[in-house]
Amino acid sequence: MELRRLDPSEAERLRALRLRSLRADPLVFGGSYDESAARPLSVWERQVADLPTWVVSDGDADVGMVRIAPHAEGGGELISLWVAPEARGRGVGERLVHAVLAWADGPVVLEVRASNGPAIDLYERLGFTLDAETEGTQRWVRATRSGAGAPR
Ligand SMILES: CC(C)(COP(=O)(O)OP(=O)(O)OC[C@H]1O[C@@H](n2cnc3c(N)ncnc32)[C@H](O)[C@@H]1OP(=O)(O)O)[C@@H](O)C(=O)NCCC(=O)NCCS
Repeated sequence: MELRRLDPSEAERLRALRLRSLRADPLVFGGSYDESAARPLSVWERQVADLPTWVVSDGDADVGMVRIAPHAEGGGELISLWVAPEARGRGVGERLVHAVLAWADGPVVLEVRASNGPAIDLYERLGFTLDAETEGTQRWVRATRSGAGAPR
């Protein structure tokens, strides 16, 4: 299994993986498959340039991804974390979250459905703490090397 950051020329790779995740697990993400599938490649090109994105591949197959939406004041929001069902339970999710934490220069926040046990277990194990819960959505936060806590 190899983890690496996508470069700006890899928009098609991002599109394939993100669409697969939205189709496989529609209830855990904010975005919808239909809306994303209708986007032209130029939108994915902009996303891969603007949002640092990491993938894990197993041979020729991409099996996981994560990205961060950076905040202007440092740190950012961890988004789009997904591991293909055939690759779960082998530490891929953990490696992806660590990639975001190593990149961030301030607190990392994320939102997760309160019903998403596997994801919450992972975040808790990796040192995130529950910050707030509203209407079934939890917000978790973790300081990084220069982050002192939750952003204001
Ligand atoms: C949540 C998700 C990303 C976790 O990915 P994952 O690759 O299975 O995560 P990990 O393997 O790092 O950890 C999961 C479990 O496997 C265990 N594990 C890790 N490495 C292992 C190994 N080598 N052998 C056996 N088990 C292992 C971990 O201890 C962990 O157990 P836990 O349930 O007690 O916490 C994945 O389930 C997923 O994509 N879900 C759907 C999308 C989603 O919910 N995304 C998050 C939206 S907020």
